Amino acid sequence: MKPSGNSRIYLDNAATSFPKPDCVYDAVEQYMRNNGSPFGRGSHATGDAATQLVVQCRHRLALILGAASPSEIAFTFNCTDGLNLLLRGCLSAGDRVVTSTLEHNSVLRPLTQLQDELQLEIVNVGFDVNSGLVDESEMIRQLSSKRTKLMVLNHASNVTGIVQPVKRLCQAAHEKKALFLLDAAQTVGHLPFSVADLQIDMLASAGHKGLLGPLGTGVVYIRSGLESQLKPVRCGGTGTQSESLQQPTTMPAMLESGNHNMPGLVGLAAASEWLLQHDIAAMHRQIAAHTKRLKSKLTSIAGVTVHVADSVAENVGIVSFVIAGMDSREAAVILDQSFQIQCRAGLHCAPLVHEALKTSSSGGSIRLSPGVFTTDNDIETAIDAIEQLTAAVA
Ligand SMILES: Cc1ncc(COP(=O)(O)O)c(C=O)c1O
Repeated sequence: MKPSGNSRIYLDNAATSFPKPDCVYDAVEQYMRNNGSPFGRGSHATGDAATQLVVQCRHRLALILGAASPSEIAFTFNCTDGLNLLLRGCLSAGDRVVTSTLEHNSVLRPLTQLQDELQLEIVNVGFDVNSGLVDESEMIRQLSSKRTKLMVLNHASNVTGIVQPVKRLCQAAHEKKALFLLDAAQTVGHLPFSVADLQIDMLASAGHKGLLGPLGTGVVYIRSGLESQLKPVRCGGTGTQSESLQQPTTMPAMLESGNHNMPGLVGLAAASEWLLQHDIAAMHRQIAAHTKRLKSKLTSIAGVTVHVADSVAENVGIVSFVIAGMDSREAAVILDQSFQIQCRAGLHCAPLVHEALKTSSSGGSIRLSPGVFTTDNDIETAIDAIEQLTAAVA
């Protein structure tokens, strides 16, 4: 199953997945060499073919996300881009937002900027450091205490991997007439779920993580009918309604100004076809088995602390840990240079998570994130390397 020619042990799939299925490389090369046209603009056959590839990609993503229609899906440059478009699009002066300390900077920073611009009231609810779960009752209490415009929540933390109780919180938000935005960067393509089942209003995700597409791709979902409540943030040519000087107000054109990252979307179209042909639930179980093995072996090594070790909540395939007496960033460099194991160490753009876990002073945590092409042998080699590394500092 593993694409050929990749001998390094890559355990940084939470940053971006690698390798991609071979069909992704083939589709990008084929498009770049033989097509090269933009989406929705060329009056020629290769332009039509390029447009068709994006139409297919949108259709496949609607299927993966369980959206009612492909027109609920728009393409962005990454998850951060989508979150900015949605947050900026739906918030107005004086609005109140309930969110959590589990969030990534791609939610925290736009909210901080908008807080200054629009005098927003932002409430950051904490999480339990043992379970990794957001304080659900406090989230609900905050919704009830004051009129709230938006709840925005991380589907799964990129530090702990723990999947949050989205369905219940979304229901609570709707009972209080608040909108619900999900940061699904770590779950789309990794975890079988549908927007229809969760009943969420908006979602942003990356195309380059669990969806297995190229870097520089992202996707947003907006529940049909909600677009009238959003301001278009980026305006420009869409290849549609060109007679008008106003930005289109319908999805997906309202969010898709300017040329797409076509090589990226062609790769994402191939990756999403590959995902639909494989079983996301089965791949999730395989990654969960790697995660479980890593957690149980690492917790047994003296000097290693896994965050969060004992949680019974579902994990999307992320194991964070610290080694006593060793800076996490230094440990990651040694794992790479001496053992060819690639991971990510630091704060992972989630400073409030590390503040709560008290891992900031050790340089954040070392994060291992297996992917669909990770083998049992990769996991055993990583465990062995961490045992050796820990023994050397003991
Ligand atoms: C939870 C979460 N949100 C947002 C992002 C940002 O994703 P992107 O790099 O696609 O902008 C990440 C990236 O790691 C993430 O883990």
